[in-house]
This record gives sequence, structure tokens and C-alpha cells, in this order.
Amino acid sequence: MQKVVEVLGSREELIERSLAVVLSKITAAIAERGMCTIAAAGGSTPEPLYRSLATQDLPWDKIHVFWGDERYVAPEHQDSNQKMARLVWLDRVNIPAGNIHPMPTGAGDPAADCRAYQTELQQFFQISDGEVPAFDIILLGIGDDAHTASLFPGTAALQVRSALVTVGNKDGQPRITFTVPLINRARCVIFMVAGASKQPALAEIFAPAADDMTYPARLVQPEGELWWLLDALAGAALK
Ligand code: 6PG
Repeated sequence: MQKVVEVLGSREELIERSLAVVLSKITAAIAERGMCTIAAAGGSTPEPLYRSLATQDLPWDKIHVFWGDERYVAPEHQDSNQKMARLVWLDRVNIPAGNIHPMPTGAGDPAADCRAYQTELQQFFQISDGEVPAFDIILLGIGDDAHTASLFPGTAALQVRSALVTVGNKDGQPRITFTVPLINRARCVIFMVAGASKQPALAEIFAPAADDMTYPARLVQPEGELWWLLDALAGAALK
């Protein structure tokens, strides 16, 4: 694993730097393998990055967009990660509909939808049970509680090793989430973190020793590159 930690200035500078890194990884993936697979993060931090991506002249037919986690709501629900990304990004670029791979949330059974997404991943990457595909880019954020994706502190999802996708649990609310093994197979994981409220979580995530079950983002140790892009407010935790 190669780890890069950059503390930028403002939130805007964080987004600019994130865009530059993402674009470089997209370009490299397409040059090397003819396509790029990217898993989007939810939450508010990446939204301006998605808006910026929508202004880029990219070979969208070679880019496949997945999600690293999803709230268990309908795609048109205001809390949907898919809804946000389509609104500010995917509806604004000429990407084929088949290149967009949302996490299903319509079965009325989160475990069933997890199995459906796992099947979609296996078919897309042409892999069998037990194999773990390598995404070119996985975008992540962290919560104030050091969760990432929908891997929340103390939940069973943190320990799932035999699946690619599992049911997350936020205060009793189900989520669909990538598992730790799938995240850690990535060629490049990029955390985007902004705001002073993230300082306590970052201090524990970067501490030499702390409990991974309490601070789940510590579990992200990808085979490829690990980028931490922080604004100054969040990055103050590392001083
Ligand atoms: C989600 C995200 C989640 C997010 C963090 C940070 O579905 O909410 O995947 O893991 O990245 O909660 O959210 P903010 O960017 O809004 O601080």
C-alpha cells in the first residue's frame, strides 16, 4: 500500500485537488485497461467534486460508475446517494445508461438487494464466488464517528469477509455497503474529509493504536494507493 496524506487549505482547494487526483486515475485506468471503474461515495463532501466532474470532457463510454454504499431508500428519495450523483453529475454528462450501476434498494429486503448487487459485480468483473474485483477508484468519506461507506462502529458489517456487499446498519436503519475486503482490493482509495468536526475521528484513525471496530475507517488498508485529502480544518487533527 502506498499512502499519501495531503492537507489542503479551504474546502474548495480540497475539491480542486481531489478532482486532479481523480482525473489522473481515470486517465491512467483507461490507458492501461481501456476502462475505468469508480465507486462513488455518498454524503455532502463529494458533491462539489461530482459537479466538477460533470464539466470534464472525458470518454464517458469508458467509465463505469458504481456506489460504495447506499441508504436503503428509493432512488428518488432525498437521502439517496444515487439521486445526488445523478442530479449534479451523471445526468449532465454523456455517459451510457448501462455504465451507471446503482445499488438496488427496491426488494424490500436489504440482504436480497446486497446479493443482487454482488451478482451484478460478479457479472461485470466476470468473477466467481470467492474472488474480489479491483476497482480503479473508490471514493470514501468518514463520519464524525469514523465510519466509512456504511461501515458503522461496532456493527456486524465490519467483520464480513466472505462477501463483496453487505447490509450496513446506521442506528437501526439498513444500508447497502461495500465490505472491507472489496474496498481493500482497490487500486486507489481516496478519502475526502472536510471540517473541524472530523478532527476527533481523524486523530483516532491515524493513531498508532486504536480499536478498528470503534473507528472503522482504520480498516481501509488497500492493496493499491491510499489517499487522504483533507481540508485545513480537518487536517488540524494531524498536527
Ligand atoms: C453516506 C456516505 C458516508 C459519508 C460520511 C461523510 O452514505 O453518507 O457514504 O460514509 O461518506 O458520512 O459524510 P459527509 O461527506 O456528509 O461529511
